[in-house]
Amino acid sequence: MNPNSRLPIGLFDSGMGGLTVFKALARRLPGEDLLYLGDTARLPYGTKGRDTIIRYTLSAAQKLVDMGVKMLVVACNTATAAALPTLREHFAPLPVLGVVEPGAQAAAAASRNGRIVVLATEATINGGAYQQAIARVRPDAEVLVRACNLFVTLAEEGWMDGPLVEGIARRYLEGLFDAPENKAADAARLLPDTMLLGCTHYPLLQGALRQVVGPNVNIVDSAATTAEFVVQELGALRLLHPDRAASAGDATGKRQGESRFLTTDHVARFVRTGSLFLGRDMAEGEVTLVDL
Ligand code: DGL
Repeated sequence: MNPNSRLPIGLFDSGMGGLTVFKALARRLPGEDLLYLGDTARLPYGTKGRDTIIRYTLSAAQKLVDMGVKMLVVACNTATAAALPTLREHFAPLPVLGVVEPGAQAAAAASRNGRIVVLATEATINGGAYQQAIARVRPDAEVLVRACNLFVTLAEEGWMDGPLVEGIARRYLEGLFDAPENKAADAARLLPDTMLLGCTHYPLLQGALRQVVGPNVNIVDSAATTAEFVVQELGALRLLHPDRAASAGDATGKRQGESRFLTTDHVARFVRTGSLFLGRDMAEGEVTLVDL
């Protein structure tokens, strides 16, 4: 048994968005302890420059490493896109997984016609990470990208639906799913059939986005696929918790994992918004304020 296998899995994001990945991971690996850091004091990352994002990401990851984790999950597309190779080099041999590759795989698998829209932050889009990651798994794909910075603010504010959110979404998605009027029948077939939420905050707005794109577009995100990547990697490295339960509510007496949350600012706000992301009431006692 690997002596590190009893350590928690560390996850981080600029804010609450990574909780969408946290939730998928907690569901998939209920016997593992999870340590989550939201760098809310420095949010958003998505409008910052690459060097700043790398610097912020390194210090957030360092905090988790100092506390003792067996794996780092970069539950932020922006941080993954800018800093994954740097993190891997800096913290080797600690395994570090990001969300871009899982997201690209999820989108490539969901699309029938290979036309994929990627919504993400400005930094993720400008760095080209998704365009490259999708091309690697599906070279025939045609990828359309759109930076939707305001979605992060809406999600952090807990504004998930309603006319205002839909209006903003409609504005951001303008033109992406419109068939040219002159060749409607043929063009409709060629419209994107899949929309990837390439920012971990965006799944919170899924209801509003569904209203805008209608019922026929697959909306995918990287959370569940990332959880599968984590399972594979922990298994390959013999790092799965030796006493873990097989599933949530496991009656065999195996352990259920514990979760801890860290934030760099404003515990009460983390609790309020975190409850929305996790779909359960969080208590202030679950969240610790840390300085990076
Ligand atoms: N949740 C982050 C992501 O997945 C971005 C949020 C931000 O801009 O800080 O890209």
